[in-house]
Amino acid sequence: MPTRGSETPRSDPAAPDSQIWEAVDRYFVDLLALTDPALDETLRSMEAAGLPAIQVSALQGRLLYLLAQMQGAHRILEIGTLGGYSSIWLARALPLGGRLITLELEPRHAEVARANLERAHLSDRVEVRVGRAVDSLAQLHAEGSRPFDLVFIDADKESYPEYLTWALRLSRPGTVIVADNVIRNGTIVDAHHPDPRVQGIRRFFTLLAAEPRLVTAPVQMVGTKGYDGWAIVRVVVGADARGEPRERRDPPNRAVT
Ligand code: SAH
Ligand code: DHB
Ligand code: MG
Repeated sequence: MPTRGSETPRSDPAAPDSQIWEAVDRYFVDLLALTDPALDETLRSMEAAGLPAIQVSALQGRLLYLLAQMQGAHRILEIGTLGGYSSIWLARALPLGGRLITLELEPRHAEVARANLERAHLSDRVEVRVGRAVDSLAQLHAEGSRPFDLVFIDADKESYPEYLTWALRLSRPGTVIVADNVIRNGTIVDAHHPDPRVQGIRRFFTLLAAEPRLVTAPVQMVGTKGYDGWAIVRVVVGADARGEPRERRDPPNRAVT
């Protein structure tokens, strides 16, 4: 087990840090048994199908699972399915009768995800919808979808501002919204960064900052995926971002807008 002692070379600023982040991830994956045949086979099937290995880490999957359970989520919305790895973590947190709707652009990704969800015995709880997420979100809204208790945003970063707007329309006071990949090696502090994904995330945070119904906790993370992080956001009514307790309790299960 490597330690942060004097043997850590300071001449290579990136590699030693990422090595220890990975070692710590591995330590917890083993100690806490954060893998199982269904998750392992999901990763194998993604590799076999040539899907990119950009799923959440096992530790992040555990955190998604825990947040969903802490939230008592019956209805979960995921934007960006890929091979269904994060979908499995989220769907496993659902109580009997709970539902996960997950949105994916690529039919091939959706097909891999459906097979993985089937293998994990979660098909009865999960619906994979294929198409541009903005269209699927508008469709959900048009269907009169009941509000979601948890929303996980993890598709194309340029569209995060739009996804936030739709997530809010599909929310109720108390809904929690989690967004992946919002720290991006720290590049998000650069207002002039040329990457449109960075600019998308910056606009996303600008919207969050301006929206009095939302309380935002940005979380910087390190691990097998390098240096990145989440925004964890709670929809509130009558309280502001400083968390002043103007609301006595969450109103019942009604949409915000
Ligand atoms: N949540 C997954 C990873 C998602 S990767 C996990 O952690 O396991 C991002 C996914 O979003 C990819 O599968 C990509 O095809 C999909 N995507 C990209 N643009 C999209 C769009 N406009 N609408 C819906 N899905 C999109
Ligand atoms: C990418 C997308 C993700 O959602 C992620 O977690 C990591 C990388 C990407 O598109 O490269
Ligand atoms: Mg991601």
